[in-house]
Amino acid sequence: MSTSFSTSSARNVFYGGTAFFVLLFAALVFQSESETPKRDRREMLAANPQIAAGKRIWEDNNCIGCHSLLGEGAYFAPELGNVVDRFGGGEAGKAAVKAFIQSRPPEGISGRRSMPQFNLGEKQLNEIADFLEYASKIDTAKWPPNIQG
Ligand code: HEC
Repeated sequence: MSTSFSTSSARNVFYGGTAFFVLLFAALVFQSESETPKRDRREMLAANPQIAAGKRIWEDNNCIGCHSLLGEGAYFAPELGNVVDRFGGGEAGKAAVKAFIQSRPPEGISGRRSMPQFNLGEKQLNEIADFLEYASKIDTAKWPPNIQG
């Protein structure tokens, strides 16, 4: 068997491969950096401080300790990135989300995973609903694949 794969070919494969993947990585970084601002609807955030307030309520109450948001978080409770759409979308969806959060029995529901009662006021409920509606408008390239989340 002839050994035609010389040291210099190995070096060329190494340098060529390295250059190729460095360029590919740079192209993907460029693509993410130019696509992400279009997809995450930053103009909605800028125009509506309620959404930022809702995000703070989300963080302060550790909703992500049980829920996932766009796939990130805990898998104890349903995905909430698309919950406003799941509850009917638009104003009706937001109202249903607020009603759900408000109606949690403080003692929990025996025999199933249940969500705590957070005792949020009307203003906070509106803010969290606006934040969840904003999350439902982020272009996630059709993820999650079904409305159940
Ligand atoms: C201790 C865990 C826990 C925390 C923390 C928690 N949840 Fe939940 N949540 C649940 C569980 C469990 C369910 C499903 C309950 C059910 O179906 O009866 C749920 C359901 C929901 C639903 C309805 C989802 C659906 O598709 O039916 C919404 C909306 C929701 N939670 C919002 C929130 C928000 C907003 C916060 C933070 C303020 C939060 N949750 C924090 C456990 C939690």
